[in-house]
Amino acid sequence: MMLNVLLIGNGAREHAVAEAIARSSRRPKLFSYMKTNNPGIASLSEEIAIGGYGDLAAISKFARACHIDFAVIGPEEPLNNGVADALREAGVPSVGPTKNLARLETSKSFTRHLLEKYRIPGNPEFKTFSSLNGIGEFLDELDGIVIKPDGLTGGKGVMVQGDHFQRREEAMDCCRTILEEYGNVIIEERMEGEEFSLQCLCDGKTVIATPPVQDHKRRFAGDRGPNTGGMGSYSCEDHTLPFLRPEDIVDGLTITRRVAEAIYRETGEYYKGVMYGGFMVTRSGVKLLEYNARFGDPEAMNILPLLKTDFVDLCGAIIDGTLDRINVEFEKKAAVCKYIVPKGYGLPGEHSDSASLSSRIEVGDVGAARLYYSSVDRRENGLYMTMSRALGVVGIADRLTEAERIAESAVAAIKGPVDHRPDIGTEELVKKRIQHMQDIRGR
Ligand code: GLY
Repeated sequence: MMLNVLLIGNGAREHAVAEAIARSSRRPKLFSYMKTNNPGIASLSEEIAIGGYGDLAAISKFARACHIDFAVIGPEEPLNNGVADALREAGVPSVGPTKNLARLETSKSFTRHLLEKYRIPGNPEFKTFSSLNGIGEFLDELDGIVIKPDGLTGGKGVMVQGDHFQRREEAMDCCRTILEEYGNVIIEERMEGEEFSLQCLCDGKTVIATPPVQDHKRRFAGDRGPNTGGMGSYSCEDHTLPFLRPEDIVDGLTITRRVAEAIYRETGEYYKGVMYGGFMVTRSGVKLLEYNARFGDPEAMNILPLLKTDFVDLCGAIIDGTLDRINVEFEKKAAVCKYIVPKGYGLPGEHSDSASLSSRIEVGDVGAARLYYSSVDRRENGLYMTMSRALGVVGIADRLTEAERIAESAVAAIKGPVDHRPDIGTEELVKKRIQHMQDIRGR
């Protein structure tokens, strides 16, 4: 039977999704709707359409015209705009939750209150506010403070005491600014530990974890500099991370299973898509930082190339609610993703090398590494970067050190005003993570 699949999204994460779809033994035809043309996705697609993620009519029209059987929605923006709802009205089911269920990512307060109401462990101390009333008193109760807007911020809106502000008065100023922009602010106790991403597949009833990954948000090696969308990530051949205990992954999965059950009880709707928990292992166990309603970017590039199960079958099972009948398997390999970014990426004006933001890059021999296109424009005379992350370079091998070496030597073959984090996936960085966790657990 002919199968037509619609992919929505234009980043490196969606390039990895496109590749997983194209690998399917069902030989589906891929149709892609993108905000900007991603040459990697376009090369795997039968047909593409370029348009905004808020243009629900254009997306539905494209889906109807292409006789789409199901859609995979990559980024948070179309989920937040209700693309899954619009496609459902057009008779097209999606891997990706409806707008109501995507609140798991788009409203931090919805998720915190869901965990609280259904007595699911993992919440830190928190309170939400829609005015400055009571904020001062709550700040006084906390040893360390985290302030978050209650909305989508591209992973960059979280303000942490010690990093983004120091004193209580500055915290009040941050809250005031966030209240003006977003209307609601969420204040949490600051936690200490190591972060891991657990991307789970969910059909509404069954939740299946994929191998955990560690992302690196800071712009520079040694976790210095401003937060970014993610500079790279690593995952290990044994499907755990060297600083985790086996029970940490079990706890993250158990929290996610209970959240899937709770969100159904709360809304009467089955969540179909990815529930990506950003967790932190702390001295007092696994805590939830946030959920995302999609695959991680870069984390999708760690897990999708290792998927042994047919991705199109998996999507079908998510849509039909039959994930319990599928054996989801991943190759026992390590993967290291390093993002190539323009030198000026993520830096404030005075440090930004703005010339790098629209420069040409040359990609030489990348050996065994895989390349996933992100914000790049293919013109007649070559590949140009735009304002954001340009290319995801992924090394895959039996051991982490080898995967890191493959990624790092591929990075050296990419010429232009580019930058990357050389420390991601290195033995030295992993040792630091292990030591950090030992220090925290030993206290
Ligand atoms: N890796 C962070 C994110 O996808 O939001």
